[in-house]
Amino acid sequence: MERTLSIIKPDGVERGLIGEVVQRFEKAGIRIVAMKMRHLTKKEAEAFYAVHKERPFFDSLTTYMSSGPIVVMVLEGENVIQRNRELMGATNPADAAPGTIRKDFALDVEKNTVHGSDAPETAQKEIAFFFSELEICS
Ligand code: TYD
Repeated sequence: MERTLSIIKPDGVERGLIGEVVQRFEKAGIRIVAMKMRHLTKKEAEAFYAVHKERPFFDSLTTYMSSGPIVVMVLEGENVIQRNRELMGATNPADAAPGTIRKDFALDVEKNTVHGSDAPETAQKEIAFFFSELEICS
């Protein structure tokens, strides 16, 4: 059994897509074992995306990620890191496969509706960034 961190980004919350995204996880048989809403400060967004701090999009990305509330979830299931990445689709919605969350909802490469951890080590770090073990109901 594996865990991953999922985030519904500010553009998803703002446009009323929480239910749409959650439904896709549940229909895929992925269990949501923790969930909360947060409004990150710029500093918190910078800490979360620290791995990208040298990238040209870092300032814009962290300004955007702190621009409104987000929904953070811990997902649990077999191979859930990869399965969530498949449900999300490619980073840039222009490249995302039909039927993926980003193809259906993302506005552009930055406002791309959802985040999902990309590997077991990052999943563990990202879950710990938002949740204590006591908050996870698995
Ligand atoms: P990345 O880790 O490459 O993608 P993913 O979210 O699919 O794991 O990038 C992290 C986020 O950075 C991405 O979701 C949106 C933002 N970003 C941009 O704003 N512009 C870009 O050119 C890229 C590659 C990413």
